Amino acid sequence: MNKKGENTRWQRLWSWLKRPLALGIPIGMFLLVLVGTSFQAMMVVSNQNEFCFSCHLTMDTIVQEYQASSHFGDGENIPATCSDCHVPHPFIDKMIVKTIALKDVYHMIAGTITKENFEEHRPAMAESVWKAFKKNDSANCRHCHQGENFDLAKQPQRARLNHEKIEARGETCIDCHQGLTHKRIVVR
Ligand code: HEC
Ligand code: HEC
Ligand code: HEC
Ligand code: HEC
Repeated sequence: MNKKGENTRWQRLWSWLKRPLALGIPIGMFLLVLVGTSFQAMMVVSNQNEFCFSCHLTMDTIVQEYQASSHFGDGENIPATCSDCHVPHPFIDKMIVKTIALKDVYHMIAGTITKENFEEHRPAMAESVWKAFKKNDSANCRHCHQGENFDLAKQPQRARLNHEKIEARGETCIDCHQGLTHKRIVVR
């Protein structure tokens, strides 16, 4: 939903795809969209919050949690979008994530993950996201929090004392900053 509460074209597309009559052809439909839309336009459009909101707003509480977090700002000047954190910058990595995301579209249409069972799936999803961040040393966090924007000298003591030791200890951002944007998930 957009600010005015109207359904976005993405939501309309998903609900159309979920109609029984259309169930047989979702994959073909999606390929058509892929081919029919210029490749570049598809990459840009799928990076917008609106695109991510179209499923995650009604499927779970992810969007509401994000909107209550510091990275949503005041909703006008948004410090970080979903994609800023979840879509890698290098092109190849980006393509891998987008291709894996096709699996999300599948789950959405097939209805394997629903509002009812989303919470059950959360710990596994959170772990898979942490794994990705550990693997690339929280590259997406560092993309913004670097240089002048990560000036230890300007940070409060508690933050500075922790950040000074990151390299020596081989730690990465999400080792400490978990549940920053979403509900804190405790695994084990
Ligand atoms: C077509 C509906 C749909 C759209 C659009 C969508 N998602 Fe999802 N997303 C899902 C579903 C369903 C799942 C759970 C199933 C899964 O893990 O594939 C999921 C899972 C995730 C996960 C957890 C993945 C993991 O590793 O387990 C992340 C992170 C995520 N989405 C981020 C995003 C972001 C960022 C966007 C926008 C660029 C987005 N999603 C757009 C439906 C969608
Ligand atoms: C697109 C840029 C961007 C990305 C990506 C980003 N941040 Fe931020 N972050 C900001 C900005 C800007 C602020 C200041 C927001 C404010 O409070 O006005 C901020 C604030 C913070 C804060 C202090 C506020 C708080 O909630 O405690 C922490 C901690 C933080 N970011 C950690 C992270 C971590 C960890 C990641 C990766 C998972 C990350 N950020 C990704 C831009 C970004
Ligand atoms: C060893 C644990 C640890 C690691 C690793 C870590 N942080 Fe922090 N960070 C903290 C603590 C503790 C604070 C202070 C939070 C508080 O007081 O609520 C903090 C605060 C922050 C803040 C707010 C600073 C301010 O000016 O108030 C930002 C932004 C931040 N961290 C970003 C990052 C980023 C980006 C990384 C990865 C490069 C990272 N942190 C890695 C523990 C850590
Ligand atoms: C500041 C970076 C940041 C932003 C912005 C962000 N996420 Fe996340 N996301 C994370 C991190 C880190 C995790 C791993 C779990 C955790 O620590 O909360 C995560 C986990 C998830 C998960 C797995 C389930 C869970 O609760 O852990 C989904 C789904 C997801 N994000 C989707 C989204 C969507 C959709 C948006 C936009 C509405 C979004 N994220 C915005 C950093 C971010």
